[in-house]
Amino acid sequence: MIPTETQIRAMHREAAPSREAFASVWTHCRIVWSIASQLMPPDLDGDLVRAGCLLHDIGVYRLAADDPYVRHGVLGEELARDLGLPEVLSRFCSHHTGVGITAADVTAQGLPLPVADYLAESAEERLVMYADKFHSKSTPPSFVTSDTFVVAVSRFGADKPARFDALTREFGQPNLTPLVSEFGHSVR
Ligand SMILES: [Fe+2]
Repeated sequence: MIPTETQIRAMHREAAPSREAFASVWTHCRIVWSIASQLMPPDLDGDLVRAGCLLHDIGVYRLAADDPYVRHGVLGEELARDLGLPEVLSRFCSHHTGVGITAADVTAQGLPLPVADYLAESAEERLVMYADKFHSKSTPPSFVTSDTFVVAVSRFGADKPARFDALTREFGQPNLTPLVSEFGHSVR
């Protein structure tokens, strides 16, 4: 019921509008999976975490040129549903952004999303959300340290650093060094 890495890779190839978009998003998703693998508590469902990492950003392919980036989550949930994937998987797309978006955030910041909570609820969702914070698809792509992320997320709400701290306490700090060597992306 949970698709394999090969099956999810094929979904990416099918959905990506270009080779470049596929390379960027797929590489990022694999890196997020590597980070989550390092931090995986033994009681989590590893197949679910793998699929969640590999699928979480698939909505990036559906962003129109004028779509705000924050919409990639809900677009990904739609795409995953269109692919026939169950809700337990499509939720990773819409519930991984930042350290969680609340309905109050949507209203207060005027975010272009349906007013709802987009929070990681299961431990698997929390791990995918957390692992995602350590790598960016920026041009050029880079790894992101905790310190850099905390500074960046602070501007989205006073509660955000504490939410990130709670994830750090739950899962610990990843070791980015082997991934920096493997993928050749710098650290910021
Ligand atoms: Fe991501």
